[in-house]
Amino acid sequence: MEKESLSTKPTAASQQLTASRITWQSPSNIALIKYWGKHGIQQPRNPSISFTLSECHTETSIEWEKGSGKAELIFNSEKNLKFQTRAEDYLKSIRSYLPFLGSIDLHIESFNNFPHSAGIASSASAMSSLALCLTSLEQIMSGTDLSKDEFLQKASFLARLGSGSASRSIFGGYVIWGKTDSCPGSFDDHACPLCVEVHDKFSDMHDCILIVDDGVKSVSSREGHALMDTHPYARQRYTQAHKNAATLIAAMQEGDEETFISIVEQEALGLHGLMMSSDPAYILLKPNTLHIIDKIRAFRKYTNIPVCFTLDAGPNVHILYPARETSSVQEFIKNELLVYCRDNRRIDDRIGVGPQKIMNGE
Ligand code: PMV
Repeated sequence: MEKESLSTKPTAASQQLTASRITWQSPSNIALIKYWGKHGIQQPRNPSISFTLSECHTETSIEWEKGSGKAELIFNSEKNLKFQTRAEDYLKSIRSYLPFLGSIDLHIESFNNFPHSAGIASSASAMSSLALCLTSLEQIMSGTDLSKDEFLQKASFLARLGSGSASRSIFGGYVIWGKTDSCPGSFDDHACPLCVEVHDKFSDMHDCILIVDDGVKSVSSREGHALMDTHPYARQRYTQAHKNAATLIAAMQEGDEETFISIVEQEALGLHGLMMSSDPAYILLKPNTLHIIDKIRAFRKYTNIPVCFTLDAGPNVHILYPARETSSVQEFIKNELLVYCRDNRRIDDRIGVGPQKIMNGE
């Protein structure tokens, strides 16, 4: 198999529409400035900037009836106890914001159109789609009509409590989460669209995800965030993230691709550097991750094509490039990089417009 297929057909969730059902489709996102380290109740230690993907998404539906706060979760058409426990814990944790959750039972069905172990933040799309459903349900329960901005803010706030990066998936395009001086109107409580108009050069960014390894990570993101509490470089890292956010925002306004590339790659390697210098130290990168990085840097040097890489908390490589370079970069990926991927697997994605409501309580 050369290319990971993403199902574009309506997923089972939208095929089985019944009464009193809310359905949202929400995409994943890829961070350029990384969120790594948190405090309090899912508050970020530093600002993060991402763009929301177009293709890789989760579609979540909820149905509800009078009850006592129980939840049942079906993931990709199967019962999944691990995800169900996570959903139940999440629903309990947000009950003070949505008190009606204590007097209903929820049936939740979630479908991912991408493999959830492919190195794409599946918690971002899963938690954001659930948070959007719950925000819609709150509107129905309370009979209030929030403005679009208020609705998205509330959904981002609730998504954040499930998974920090999920707060960013609520919005399309470039998104910032975490208060920082370089972006007036940025917040720790929820994400918002990036405060500036980005240069045309960055308006149609592609992300090809090369699947080097799809195994379960040896250290989860939750554990990784926790290790930042005692990390010897934590303070410097948080200062660096604010500086990198400011530099990246300016570069994106000006169309400065060189600076964009240098910050994005520094953030990716820096994230893994933090893991490698945690106590205990750990490595999520694989030899093929490094081969791919070397190849990308050599290709960029040789061709001057503004292609770069970023990494999530895992070994898979996200190759970022502007739409105008699609044919040469795709050729390069096919000829030189797929050989480093598990079963030649990759997923082609690009910047997207954000979540989509499929059904609202009908
Ligand atoms: O949202 P979480 O808790 O899964 O943390 C995500 C952290 C990274 O994906 C590594 C970086 C980011 O900002 O998305």
